Amino acid sequence: MKLNQLPPIEPAPSPGNETRRRILGVGVATLDLINTVDAYPAEDAEVRATGQRQARGGNCANTLTLLADLGHACTWAGTLAEDPGADLIHADLSAHGIDCTHAVRGPGGTSPSSYITLSQATGSRTIVHYRNLPDLSAAAFARIPLRRFDWVHFEGRNPDETRRMLERCRREAPKLPISLELEKPRPGIEALLRGPDLLLIARAFAPADGGPGTAADPGAWLTALLPRTDARVLVLGWGAQGAWLLERGGVPRLVPAQPPDRVVDTLGAGDTLNAGMIDGLVRGLKAADALAQAVALAGLKCGRTGFDGLAAAARARGL
Ligand code: FRU
Repeated sequence: MKLNQLPPIEPAPSPGNETRRRILGVGVATLDLINTVDAYPAEDAEVRATGQRQARGGNCANTLTLLADLGHACTWAGTLAEDPGADLIHADLSAHGIDCTHAVRGPGGTSPSSYITLSQATGSRTIVHYRNLPDLSAAAFARIPLRRFDWVHFEGRNPDETRRMLERCRREAPKLPISLELEKPRPGIEALLRGPDLLLIARAFAPADGGPGTAADPGAWLTALLPRTDARVLVLGWGAQGAWLLERGGVPRLVPAQPPDRVVDTLGAGDTLNAGMIDGLVRGLKAADALAQAVALAGLKCGRTGFDGLAAAARARGL
């Protein structure tokens, strides 16, 4: 069998709604304080923000929020601090209908926070994080019944624990499709290349990983990555240019971006791309069609502030 004839990643259908799938997301939920400025300031400057908003963020949480708004039954597994910020995070996820019963509260530390400067001149977002809350442990993950899910999505962080979670999924639920986001290079992250079916790679990961191609030739970099993973589908977000796709047995190709008339907010564009890709695959689309949809969704997001109403706007456009 030729590798590109491998069957598509197919989730087991959940009973009831044809396209509603049960998705478990493992990762971080944050509190974001977002200041909008006319243009990004120079170091040591003092500038006045033209607007400010507070939002619940976090890559996995953002992705799940969109998936929930797109109609899926989502569950979040992560950690919550013992502080008022955690109440806000929990309330926001619950308001989107996301099940938080597997979240672990109170492992020490404070709610993860991000201070974000959003430039109106470019739509770029500059993020300063503060993190001291321990991530979800493999022991806590072991208590989550996997048979209840059609798809599991992981943030690629805390490699030792996440590797154990991946191993458990493969051992106990070998057919359960797994996606993993590789956002930043971290010591030991290569351990997570084995296990997922779908790798969702952020632009910052590729050059830091080194090797052939890196930033200059993303297709070559993806091709070099392929033997190091057993994933069947690799997606590499490439910012304003779109996203690269490499399927095992295929050749890398760029799916061009669909930018909005005006870029107003790129915060969470990668999380949106990931949600669009998972949504497409979980509904049985081919990888290329799923990525075309995901890129369009991410473009739509960049033309809007925040995530509110994004799924509805996407539906209205037939995405
Ligand atoms: C956007 C985001 C923010 C969060 C930060 C965490 O992608 O998830 O909501 O503060 O990144 O890395």
